[in-house]
Amino acid sequence: MSNILVIQSSILGPYSQSTKLLDNFAVEWKQKHPADNIVVRDLAGEPLPVLDGEIIAALGGNGELNERQKAAAELSLALIEEVKTADYVAIAVPMYNFGIPVQLKTWIDLICRAGITFSYTETGPQGLLTDKKVLIVTTTGGTHRNTATDLALAHAQTVLSFVGLKDITVAYAEALAMGPEAQERGLTDATNAIQAFIAAH
Ligand SMILES: Cc1cc2nc3c(=O)[nH]c(=O)nc-3n(C[C@H](O)[C@H](O)[C@H](O)COP(=O)(O)O)c2cc1C
Repeated sequence: MSNILVIQSSILGPYSQSTKLLDNFAVEWKQKHPADNIVVRDLAGEPLPVLDGEIIAALGGNGELNERQKAAAELSLALIEEVKTADYVAIAVPMYNFGIPVQLKTWIDLICRAGITFSYTETGPQGLLTDKKVLIVTTTGGTHRNTATDLALAHAQTVLSFVGLKDITVAYAEALAMGPEAQERGLTDATNAIQAFIAAH
């Protein structure tokens, strides 16, 4: 039995392509592995607090904490526990204005914790969230794959690797705003990659 964590991050609700692709992933995964436990965290539906001065102080464990700080510190640990419990983490990475959704950035800001999810060593930083497989589903309106503007994916891959989530498979849905045929091709590419990931595990 495996634990699957699905992180949804699109703001587009029923119109979201990444949400649909990951919803389908969850359905197909469950068909193949009925005993597995799938947890879905919807970052747009259930927003997390944005990192600010008060919260970063709380995460650093400095001084006496107010109620908001206590809640944020507990939430951060709960989010980290959710990842630690997972054997597989499937993450939606839509591109908005060349970056990741602020909702996903906020999740990242709460799970990147020195001493908990990464540590600094004499040989450089070391990620502590190891032994997990990651599926990134990235969606873009235009075409950015393998170019300098593929910044949402680059950011997600870099920061996930930093906390130890290095075993990453990417399902890429590109050109989703470039007409129906291009969109169809983009969605088919991503669906094929998702199905290959399921077939391999
Ligand atoms: C606010 C906003 C900003 C966007 N910015 C970009 C962009 O910079 N580059 C791009 O290729 N597509 C951009 N798009 C198109 C999205 O990447 C595309 O709609 C994709 O399907 C988003 O994923 P989602 O449907 O899961 O939300 C943007 C869409 C929105 C809503």
